[in-house]
Amino acid sequence: MRLVRGLPAATFRLSPLLILLGLSLSGCGNDSITDSPPIAQDTALTVDDFETATSCQTCHPVHFEQWSGSMHAYALKDPTFAALREIGQSLYINALDGACIQCHSVVARETGAMPWGPFDYDALPPQVQEGVGCDVCHVVSGIRSLSGADMIFSPGETKFGTIADPVPNSAHKSEFNSLYSSSEYCGSCHDLVTGDGLQLEAVFREWRAGGFAVTGKTCNDCHMPDSLGSAVPGGPERTLHDHSMVGADLALIPFPNRPEQLQKVTDMLRSALTVEWDLPPTVSAGDTVDLQVRLINDLTGHNVPTGVPFIRQMWIAIEVFDDNSLIYTTGELDANGDLKDENSAFAESEIDEDLFNAQATMFRADSVKTGLTWEARYLDNPSIVAGETRPVDYRIPVPPGAAGPLRVEVRLRFRSFPPYVIRALGQDALLPIDIIDMWEDDRTVAIL
Ligand code: HEC
Ligand code: HEC
Ligand code: HEC
Ligand code: HEC
Ligand code: HEC
Repeated sequence: MRLVRGLPAATFRLSPLLILLGLSLSGCGNDSITDSPPIAQDTALTVDDFETATSCQTCHPVHFEQWSGSMHAYALKDPTFAALREIGQSLYINALDGACIQCHSVVARETGAMPWGPFDYDALPPQVQEGVGCDVCHVVSGIRSLSGADMIFSPGETKFGTIADPVPNSAHKSEFNSLYSSSEYCGSCHDLVTGDGLQLEAVFREWRAGGFAVTGKTCNDCHMPDSLGSAVPGGPERTLHDHSMVGADLALIPFPNRPEQLQKVTDMLRSALTVEWDLPPTVSAGDTVDLQVRLINDLTGHNVPTGVPFIRQMWIAIEVFDDNSLIYTTGELDANGDLKDENSAFAESEIDEDLFNAQATMFRADSVKTGLTWEARYLDNPSIVAGETRPVDYRIPVPPGAAGPLRVEVRLRFRSFPPYVIRALGQDALLPIDIIDMWEDDRTVAIL
């Protein structure tokens, strides 16, 4: 069990409602960065202080095109985000809202542009609809704490980046800032600590704890790969950074560049782990085949899966056939498309005893499982840590009458959402969810 514990509830001196919600997002415990991000910023900024992504499009068409298909552009359009937030709204009379827009729409947080309570997406200003847009990311002048998007946003005429000698232009000033090539920059949003000190999203901390030591790479080395080109049409040759910022997730609604993103996500996932497996060359009918799969995280700078590990599924699917038929299976789906574990609607009749699924589970303070992030106080997270080798063993019974040779097919499969979660969010229309094979192989075993 890898239980990540929150602090005992008795240590809290926060408002009872926030304790209940687990939503006062706090700093990371690093001595040099102690302040806690506020749930809603009290700044003097207005929406018009931020520019829309379309205003950058004419001069930066390639960046715009890549960003528009990214999960950053999806952050507020995401129907699962809206659905989960709505559940929180009805349960907690909207007290949750400010916390949810904290990272998903910094413009709304900084300006108060998104009223708490139910909202009409189409009525929101484009800068808010854009989620994590150009003018959120390129106006960061510093970081206060490595959690909860607690950055210093300074919208205005200066755009920060990593071009040291930018060509002047009529739209904005440009300024070099080394922060933009650091992992801390991404880490400030890709990190969520609840009010109870539970590390719910930990990509940055996983990377810092050992991911960098394993791969020697920063977030951008893997998520914003380089290419040569110009940052503006006709501009000088530059090292550009891919803004499609591919990870493991895909839009569940019609979205720009969806086929390209699917291909890039597939490539990303197929490069995430080294997989090895052992199988004896022969077996006697009536005996067992001892099979071991090893998942080795030597290629990724953080856990696999990461981010929201309580909804990502990564599982091993095995099928063994003799001459005539399927004699063993694990990792197959039930009639609803769910894995055959306790979350299956058919759990009473169809449990897959051998199932390996790296999905994390959230627990409430009373040790009951929960799917609601704000109720979570403990996390059982079996994801594969950077540098770790995880052996998974199987003993596969071979029927006495089996006719050989056996054919053994093994796959490592991934999907960003289990169907039962989508149904619980009342979003059935988004089904089915793409399943991506991260790795597959097959071998035969002779029957003696
Ligand atoms: C009128 C054209 C124009 C518009 C509109 C424009 N830019 Fe630029 N931008 C440029 C030029 C020219 C450069 C310099 C490119 C170079 O030196 O290779 C640049 C450079 C940049 C840089 C790199 C800065 C650095 O020093 O690393 C960033 C970041 C940037 N722009 C962001 C934006 C954003 C965000 C928007 C929209 C809010 C935007 N730009 C709108 C022309 C424009
Ligand atoms: C050595 C390459 C590498 C580095 C370094 C790296 N990543 Fe990743 N990242 C990957 C791969 C491969 C995946 C897909 C597998 C997975 O989901 O874990 C991924 C997935 C992700 C995801 C999607 C997770 C999910 O399952 O939904 C996010 C978010 C992410 N990375 C952010 C970051 C951030 C932030 C950093 C820096 C702190 C970083 N990554 C560093 C390779 C890398
Ligand atoms: C999630 C944050 C994020 C978003 C959103 C984002 N950028 Fe960037 N951008 C960066 C970072 C980080 C770099 C520098 C990467 C590096 O040097 O490793 C960068 C680099 C750039 C550059 C310099 C050239 C290059 O490719 O390195 C330009 C121009 C630019 N961005 C424009 C834009 C525009 C236009 C948009 C919106 C369409 C946008 N960015 C959206 C983070 C972001
Ligand atoms: C202002 C906050 C913010 C910053 C800064 C930021 N991100 Fe994100 N990022 C988000 C949010 C919010 C999402 C999730 C949107 C959704 O799916 O609803 C996301 C999604 C992603 C994803 C896709 C996750 C998946 O499951 O596939 C990747 C990869 C990613 N970010 C990488 C980066 C990298 C690399 C950087 C640094 C250059 C960065 N982000 C900076 C807020 C941010
Ligand atoms: C600390 C910043 C932060 C806060 C606060 C935050 N999120 Fe997120 N959220 C993210 C990031 C980053 C991702 C992408 C995670 C990944 O894929 O690795 C994400 C992903 C999600 C996803 C999964 C989206 C997908 O398409 O896979 C949902 C749903 C979601 N958030 C809902 C919420 C709700 C509801 C709240 C308020 C209770 C909230 N978030 C608060 C940063 C945040």
